[in-house]
Amino acid sequence: AFFARSCGDMKNLRVLVTAAGTREPIDPVRYVGNRSSGKMGYAIAQAAADRGAEVTLVSGPSVLNPPANVKTVQVETTQQMMDACLAAYNDMDIVIKAAAVADYRPHDVAEQKIKKKTDDALTVVMDKNPDILKALGERKEKQFLVGFAAETQNLIANAKEKICKKNLDMIVANDVTLQGAGFNSDTNIVKFLFPDGEVRELEQMTKAEVAEELLNTVLRLRKS
Ligand code: CTP
Ligand code: CA
Repeated sequence: AFFARSCGDMKNLRVLVTAAGTREPIDPVRYVGNRSSGKMGYAIAQAAADRGAEVTLVSGPSVLNPPANVKTVQVETTQQMMDACLAAYNDMDIVIKAAAVADYRPHDVAEQKIKKKTDDALTVVMDKNPDILKALGERKEKQFLVGFAAETQNLIANAKEKICKKNLDMIVANDVTLQGAGFNSDTNIVKFLFPDGEVRELEQMTKAEVAEELLNTVLRLRKS
């Protein structure tokens, strides 16, 4: 059937998954973050491990328990996620970047808690973070590289552009405004897009089911 686990069909494959959101500190007690829960990435890591893969999960802060039989590396900032991904990358067969990565970080991280002042506004200047997935795409050799795209508009066009810009083999496009999809939901409604322009729309399903179908698709494409 569609979602059936083909037991052991990822044996001897090394898989890198990133999950959850990165956080960028402002001062010792505050950070800039996003709404990612980590559920999608953790489901992928779990599914790949259950199918026999050797899985490394690089995760931003999440309340979820690390999946069994997975090497989990906990990180906080985008730079830390980048370092962990680059360190693991060369050995990998499949890389799936489900993490919601902070695009910017505060330029200055205050050493002490920032005190409330008399002004009515506070300006935080932000610097651009490195694009982890783009860096991995530039260094791609044998790796099958899967990105995610979280969009609130122009889903297909934006996701297609990311396939090209980041040298991906596939992207999972997510309209995060839909009910039953996106942040913290147990279900997701996604589209798989490929470099040849193919778009496959999946029905609403659990994130565990999306994970299985994503891995089925990756295995099929790696063979061809
Ligand atoms: N990504 C990354 N490093 C970043 C930003 C994004 O690795 N600094 C990865 C995400 O993990 C995801 C993919 O790139 O797999 C797309 O992320 P997304 O935020 O949708 O796209 P961006 O390229 O950041 O563009 P924008 O936020 O402007 O839509
Ligand atoms: Ca982004």
